[in-house]
Amino acid sequence: METNDSGWMTTVALACTVIITGLIYHKRKAMLLRRYGLHGPAALPVLGNMLELIKTGTTALEEKWLKEYGNVFVWYFGCMQSITVKDQDILKAVLIKDFSNFCNRKMLDTSPCPLDKGIFFLRDTDWKRVRSIMNPTFSSAKLRMMSDDINRCARHLAENLMRCTEKDESIAIKDYYGAFTIDVISMTAFGLDVDSQKNSDNKLISHMRKIFNNASVPIPVFLSAIFGDWMINLLKYLKICFYPRDSMEFFNREVRMMIEERRRNPSDRTDFLQLMLNASLETSDANANEKAERKVLTTDEVIGQSFLLFLAGYETTASLLSFSAYEMMCNPEVQDKIYEEIVEQLGDEEPTYENIGKLKYMELVLYETLRLYPALARINREAGKTIEINGVTIPQGSAVTIPIRALHQDPEIYPEPTLFKPERFVDFKPNQNIINFLPFGHGPRMCIGMRLALMEAKIAVTHVLRKVKFVQSIDTEIPIVLKDIGLTVPKNPIRLKVKQRTSWEH
Ligand code: HEM
Repeated sequence: METNDSGWMTTVALACTVIITGLIYHKRKAMLLRRYGLHGPAALPVLGNMLELIKTGTTALEEKWLKEYGNVFVWYFGCMQSITVKDQDILKAVLIKDFSNFCNRKMLDTSPCPLDKGIFFLRDTDWKRVRSIMNPTFSSAKLRMMSDDINRCARHLAENLMRCTEKDESIAIKDYYGAFTIDVISMTAFGLDVDSQKNSDNKLISHMRKIFNNASVPIPVFLSAIFGDWMINLLKYLKICFYPRDSMEFFNREVRMMIEERRRNPSDRTDFLQLMLNASLETSDANANEKAERKVLTTDEVIGQSFLLFLAGYETTASLLSFSAYEMMCNPEVQDKIYEEIVEQLGDEEPTYENIGKLKYMELVLYETLRLYPALARINREAGKTIEINGVTIPQGSAVTIPIRALHQDPEIYPEPTLFKPERFVDFKPNQNIINFLPFGHGPRMCIGMRLALMEAKIAVTHVLRKVKFVQSIDTEIPIVLKDIGLTVPKNPIRLKVKQRTSWEH
């Protein structure tokens, strides 16, 4: 009996010691941050601000905290310390000037190998090496060569939409644009003619949809935020991650087969796969020095990049196109103006890398769409060491969160921010004042596919508007309600009607 009592008391004493030590640590950390010039909402030990974030939603809470604490504040997602920064000078330092200290993302990703080898997740010298191998695959010369493939996919898209005009029904526009972007990335990256636009039960597209349709903050992310690195490693080991297991296995298998096939029969195509294979080793066990010196990729890394290119190439560009269709439908004068520009500038010419530069108004519309609906609502960087910027000390290991959606909605930068006004971008010059406009991020780690995405979007809109018009249907939801997650996606699919454009209309 006595032994039982003393055992019980030891357990209670130990638990109290852990809790009290935790509370003291938590308090001291809060005091230290205040000394560093950092303020923010009160946070619970271990859970941080997670409960509030779940209850109120990240975007609404971010807006509230920006009003309360100004352009720099600290908050906690579980144990992960994050400093949200909307201050222009600090943003410039983090993204560009002091990039060497902020070259990594702070990730709670538990993707198992080889999916964790995708460039988005890589760190330090691995990221540098892979980025330097991948950069040339997105050069102007390579983009120029891709325009024929993209035109072929865009013609299929326009024909598909034309078919929809025969029925008096609304369509979920993302289904069409999603199939188009899958076709483009399959063709330009891997030389695969999957034609998912005709073949709607194609496995590739159903796995892509599965990955993104369930987009929400998944339980593994919460667990990793609360319990930190050991939980990330455990979940990785158990293959529990953001993506459905069968989709991961599908991609892993398919890409491995594609690689083996290319190794057996090398192609004279200059698609991404071939360029990556040209820089690849046939083993996965090269050491770090060897990889860095010879600028090579392992087979696992080729698979990781391939998976990432599918993910990045599909959702983001399909979203841009779908939101632009919605805004064209809501603003018919904008839609007419783009059509008139296509007629005036291109006539019946095929859109190409060169001539799409003439579609200036269409470009403004795409920018304004990206301002209102940035694919990623926020991005982040991890502080490699403690650094002081403009009187604010950013401790080593903290995430610096860049609130893209909030930045794009700031009335001081964009007057009447909720209105769709493409003209506001007339004087916008890329690389000037660009810290206010971050749909593709910024600095050496910005989106590698930006120019491909914009070219793809312009070619698609040209083909589509030549044939059809977007109009409202009885089940079109206006205004769009967005999900409050890291990706900018509507709560319900965007539905609208397509009407055949008759030659006498314009
Ligand atoms: C409208 C379309 C797109 C949008 C809005 C978009 C947006 C973004 C954003 C915000 C980032 C993070 C940048 C940062 O942290 O500074 C990113 C990274 C990236 N994007 Fe895109 N993206 C688009 C299309 C594409 C396409 C078509 C591809 C490739 C086929 C692509 C490949 C990537 C890659 C590989 C990264 C990681 C870069 C790195 O870590 O070095 N993206 N994108």
